[in-house]
Amino acid sequence: MPREIPAQHFPDGFLWGCATSAYQIEGSPLADGAGASVWHRFSHTPGRVVANETGDIACDHYRRWESDIDLMQRLGLQAYRFSIAWARILPEGIGRVNPLGLGFYERLIDRLLAKGIQPTATLFHWDLPAALDDRGGWLNRDSADWFAEYADIVYRRFDDRIKLWATLNEPWVVSDNGYLHGTAAPGHRNIFEAPIATHNLMRAHGAAVQAYRATGRHQIGLVVNIEPKYAASQAADDLAATRRAEAQMNRQFIEPALLGRYPQEMREIFGDAWPDWPAADLQQIHQPIDFVGLNYYTRSVTKHDPQAWPLRATPVKQTQHPHTEMGWEVFPQGLTDTLLWIKDRYGNPPVYITENGAAFADPAQADGELLEDPLRVDYFRTHIRAVHDALRAGADVRGYFAWSMLDNFEWALGYSKRFGIIHVDYQTQKRTLKASATFFADVIASNGAVAF
Ligand code: FCB
Repeated sequence: MPREIPAQHFPDGFLWGCATSAYQIEGSPLADGAGASVWHRFSHTPGRVVANETGDIACDHYRRWESDIDLMQRLGLQAYRFSIAWARILPEGIGRVNPLGLGFYERLIDRLLAKGIQPTATLFHWDLPAALDDRGGWLNRDSADWFAEYADIVYRRFDDRIKLWATLNEPWVVSDNGYLHGTAAPGHRNIFEAPIATHNLMRAHGAAVQAYRATGRHQIGLVVNIEPKYAASQAADDLAATRRAEAQMNRQFIEPALLGRYPQEMREIFGDAWPDWPAADLQQIHQPIDFVGLNYYTRSVTKHDPQAWPLRATPVKQTQHPHTEMGWEVFPQGLTDTLLWIKDRYGNPPVYITENGAAFADPAQADGELLEDPLRVDYFRTHIRAVHDALRAGADVRGYFAWSMLDNFEWALGYSKRFGIIHVDYQTQKRTLKASATFFADVIASNGAVAF
């Protein structure tokens, strides 16, 4: 029996917060003895990022973290999801620990706690230390040990203050964009590498969970991006294409973590490039985790397309619905569907929505005190209701993090896409609240009631 969920608000204890990631907001990537990351190298390679923008300054959060926390407090955030830059802690990725790197996150965590905001940390949000890329990065089998070494250092220092940990953020992006299509760091385009990167990322996840069980006392999970796939028609080839797309994006990572196996479609998609993995590796990957972190933005309607490499599947634009600046369809029902899919397929694990949000154009300069962003407010309202629908249908959703606290460096799209509920003027670093920030503050204060 699903537990009773209040009709017009969220259950007691539901956790509300905002999310960011290190390379996207911090700036000062090499400060205080930090090593470079693959994203530093990628963004400093001309032609990789729109307008050749980099994370050198970003939101200057590395220096403005105190006033940024004051803003979080003003919004009444209960939790803040940030990521730790591996190369600040271990400039060479392994071996020598940099105390100044640990010091930055220690100050951040302590101040969050002092303001009553629960810190939640992601260990890897794509910024692999460049020194490890020089050793083959995620193609090197040792990467699982490297990650566990780093994770262990961070757990030992912060587990007394951090109660929710995530190992990897969206490994799909690293493998697919980073090694298959070359649109994200490290920028490879190689069908033989992507499966290896996938497998080593998942081995690293497993190793970091094992390390956590040895020393940690709280909760750890994996963050995946899921974009539900709906077939464009009931034709057999469209249905098969939809199944491949779903396997490649939505099941490639969650399935080995929760069920100890990869989808059988991986071989269909990658052919010879998808090896038979040792059973012992799958066992290591298949560690009990405490929650699934779900990043949800949009859905895709999929059709068969023999030209689309290597999936032979392509999305069909749904012109009847609005789209964000990313070209992503606004489809809140997909969030309900995804939460129920996780519930039914994987035995109703606890889920945190670790990211949800939308890029819409704001004026570059924000003059007034508050910037109106009605499309983003609407996006949040409808998606928060979609989460509530899933709760009422029995999904075990524990919290919701808006992406993002601040406008920031949107990876290969540079600063051209604004996801923040707080506007950032990149010339002056002035922060201006958007209406979505005050809406979200009201959501938190009313435990979701204002969304109805
Ligand atoms: C997700 C990433 C996050 C951000 C949003 C828009 O894929 O985890 O860093 O870029 O998309």
